[in-house]
Amino acid sequence: MSIFGDNDDNEKPQQSVVRNSLGIDLGTLNTVIAKPSGDKFDLYQIPSVVAVKKDDHSSILAVGEEAKRMLGRTPEDIIAVRPLKKGVIENIIQAQSLLIRAIQIGINDDETVGRIVIGIPGDSSEVEKNAAEEIGRKAGASEVIVISEGLAAAIGAGLPIAEPHGTMIIDLGAGSTDLVVISLGGITDIETVRYGGDDIDNRIVDLIAEKYNVAIGIHDAENAKMEVGMVHCSQTLENLSVEVIGKSLETNRPKKVVIDSMLVADAVEFVIQNILDGLNIILERMSPDLIMGVYKNTVAVGGSSRLRGLKERIYDEIEIPVTISDDPMTVVAKGTAIVAAEPLALEPEVRLKAMK
Ligand SMILES: Nc1ncnc2c1ncn2[C@@H]1O[C@H](COP(=O)(O)OP(=O)(O)OP(=O)(O)O)[C@@H](O)[C@H]1O
Ligand SMILES: [Mg+2]
Repeated sequence: MSIFGDNDDNEKPQQSVVRNSLGIDLGTLNTVIAKPSGDKFDLYQIPSVVAVKKDDHSSILAVGEEAKRMLGRTPEDIIAVRPLKKGVIENIIQAQSLLIRAIQIGINDDETVGRIVIGIPGDSSEVEKNAAEEIGRKAGASEVIVISEGLAAAIGAGLPIAEPHGTMIIDLGAGSTDLVVISLGGITDIETVRYGGDDIDNRIVDLIAEKYNVAIGIHDAENAKMEVGMVHCSQTLENLSVEVIGKSLETNRPKKVVIDSMLVADAVEFVIQNILDGLNIILERMSPDLIMGVYKNTVAVGGSSRLRGLKERIYDEIEIPVTISDDPMTVVAKGTAIVAAEPLALEPEVRLKAMK
């Protein structure tokens, strides 16, 4: 398994796989753990949720699935919260408990964790980067490497990142969207748009309230988005619909509403506009030397890349063909696991050697 593709040669550094190394994508909504296992990965996923005491947000009562089950159903003195907001660690103690759980899930009882690689948003500050390193070490890892989620996604998607031609990753997550241009194994340009799937869900709730005077739950909005969602584009896509029961704001009684693909597309519109603005900025700055590579190798990852019509809309607007990853929610974790198994691959001198 190599980030340089299949062209094995003797010049390439040989790095033995650390048995208990892990790659972890600490996402706003989902934390994905990838453990290198031969040429494949063992993959695990937990919701990025912790349950805490209402009057002491550092007092952790439950993590992951258990905490998610408590969402909206907790007794008065307990709340379920997300340690990351918009892709960024908001509460270190909560994020650490999430990471500890992720490590426990990723390794066997009799193992200790050696190296972990954590994906963080590409525009993270030094403080945010240090916070991720610190929680990794406190969670028990002897070595912690943090890398940009965009770079990890490109590695996980098997893009030819070590080449000088340029590739681009569009990572549409829950909290944010990363637009990352890569060449020679490093990031050459990045824009982070602080909008993602969560904003679409909130907008669906608002649109239903405006249109029907009905309040629906945020999870019902998200499920409807996943079932019938699409993005406005030049192609005619089937207008699907789903029924949801909300609460009438007039009578307080349950009331049925229909959510169709057009309504979801309306809710997506301001998010897609912001993403297109970001892509236009990237294209304006892009060197002509990279444009052909980007034209040939742009991949969309992240759960929100599953929206129908996304690649058509991007092509309509910026004329770049986009491939939608077929494992959009695990590709970042896979990339971090590849680096966990082969960290030397990130060193500039090794990348240059790989070009020869
Ligand atoms: N079929 C689908 N259609 C539309 N959106 C989807 C679909 N499946 C998942 N999503 C959305 O994808 C998002 C989760 O994606 P992902 O797991 O990549 O996010 P994350 O990594 O936790 O967030 P971030 O990268 O912003 O920190 C959620 O907003 C979810 O609603
Ligand atoms: Mg993500």
